[in-house]
Order: sequence, then structure tokens, then C-alpha cells
Amino acid sequence: MTADETTITAYPDGPLIVRGAVMYRNEAGEEIRQPRRTVALCRCGVSAIKPWCDGTHKLIGFSTTPELPGE
Ligand code: FES
Repeated sequence: MTADETTITAYPDGPLIVRGAVMYRNEAGEEIRQPRRTVALCRCGVSAIKPWCDGTHKLIGFSTTPELPGE
């Protein structure tokens, strides 16, 4: 990984970890200031500070494992 490379890593049962320089924007296209180069983006949908992860995924038992039909 180079110093200017940006990566997004999906963590099992957790958020998307973004490492590197990224321009974040809200639905209106306005920039969301985020000085950190490593952030966690919520993908469970229940964070109180969206788009950032606040750890609530652990409390609700969020799972990224798809359930197979019939299980
Ligand atoms: S993924 Fe952590 S609060 Fe949603």
C-alpha cells in the first residue's frame, strides 16, 4: 500500500474501514469534514452518527453472514 492509496475493507459483522484520503459528501453534495485518515463507515444502518460507525452494530448483533434459505 502506498502513502496515497485509499482502501476500503469490509469487516465481518462490522463496519467498512476506510484508510486513506477520501472526500465525504452528504446527500446534498456538501462536504463532510473528516480530518482522520482512517474511519469506520456504518453498514448496519443503526449508528446514531451516520455515516460513521458508533459501535452499535455489536449491540444489535449485526451479521454480515447471509443466511441460507431453510436455515
Ligand atoms: S456498522 Fe457500526 S454502528 Fe453500524
